[in-house]
Amino acid sequence: MAVHVNRVVLIGTGLVGSSYAFAMLNQGVSEELVLIDLNKEKSEGDVMDLNHGLAFAPSSTRIWFGDYEDCKDADIVVLCAGANQKPGETRLDLVDKNLKIFKNIVKNVMDNEFNGIFIVATNPVDILSYAVWKYSGLPQSQVIGSGTILDTARFRYLLAEHFDVDTRNVHAYIIGEHGDTELPVWSHADIGGMPILDTVTDQEVLDHLFVSVRDAAYQIIERKGATYYGIAMGLVRLTKAIIHNENSILTVSCFLNGEYGEKDVYIGVPAIVNSKGIKKVLELKLNEKETKQLKHSVSVLKETMYPFFK
Ligand code: LAC
Repeated sequence: MAVHVNRVVLIGTGLVGSSYAFAMLNQGVSEELVLIDLNKEKSEGDVMDLNHGLAFAPSSTRIWFGDYEDCKDADIVVLCAGANQKPGETRLDLVDKNLKIFKNIVKNVMDNEFNGIFIVATNPVDILSYAVWKYSGLPQSQVIGSGTILDTARFRYLLAEHFDVDTRNVHAYIIGEHGDTELPVWSHADIGGMPILDTVTDQEVLDHLFVSVRDAAYQIIERKGATYYGIAMGLVRLTKAIIHNENSILTVSCFLNGEYGEKDVYIGVPAIVNSKGIKKVLELKLNEKETKQLKHSVSVLKETMYPFFK
């Protein structure tokens, strides 16, 4: 009986993609990692550079520069290709150029009979996740966007700093668009089981913490031109949940089919992730303000993507 070897194909080895590959190698996540990029020479250089670190890695990962035929036997295809935000740009400003790039990439992947799971990282990630679902024809559960996985991590980090506790003991979600209309679910935020709203009543403090999360990418882009380490580690976390069939709850961009009263949209919500992709979307009981904010976030995404999918 053939032994299954888990293979991840990474398409796009720019700053996010190459940081993802580096993190995958250092965390020993997959047995095979295939890099694909238009810039063959740079990507081949990445492969050589990564392979030279194998002796220091926790487990061996076979890494090579490949092509779309390698998608046939892949478990996961990670999409990091496309343009990223420049200073002053919003993520939604990237929609037109990245949709064009994705149409071609997804066709090339599906022409090789890929039937695994797409992880979408390129922004605007919610709209591009919807596009990958449409272009690929795969079930919604097999197309997952990074969504607000990084925003939730930023939220937990800033709350941990504020309360001087370990990040791993902070449970709080950012949901909605991975972008300017995302929202904090304060009604379900706790530290070690103690609701944050029971201890922090100063709305200015709460608002400042959230705005620091929402605008983090702009702050980083202003300083270093792009963000890539945090998102790369979030993508590795999502990859591990799939490869290890973890049934982990992560705030990723999922297709809503009535959950939260919304349909026909990809947006960041907590979901159970395992080897089959999205096992279940978790429908939090939002308060009135959160429900209104999520509805607004959905409408902004639908208004932006409507011209491309009408
Ligand atoms: C960020 C990019 C991944 O939020 O959108 O850093």
